[in-house]
Amino acid sequence: MPKIEFLGNSIGPAKVVDVESGGELVDICDHYLVPIPFSCRSASCGTCHIEVVEGAGLLAPPEEAEEELLDILGGDSTTRLACQARVKAGPGLLRIRAKLG
Ligand code: FES
Repeated sequence: MPKIEFLGNSIGPAKVVDVESGGELVDICDHYLVPIPFSCRSASCGTCHIEVVEGAGLLAPPEEAEEELLDILGGDSTTRLACQARVKAGPGLLRIRAKLG
């Protein structure tokens, strides 16, 4: 069961959640009302740009649409789009911080 820590920011306080299994990160964010902003939810706007502080291996590799926008945003290997990332099942800690513009 992965544990996900969302670091606090101006949107809201930090939150730590245990997710039963993997799944779409956007669904987890919606369910737990974490401090990650969203807009398009389709790899177009960059609003959900996040930094993966720890546990990047708990995320499935980005698909083409996510990679293309990350390139435009100047993201390095520690950044992802919360609307596109998929959390793998399995134990571990994933720590995420919103990259607020
Ligand atoms: S919400 Fe627009 S790219 Fe994720």
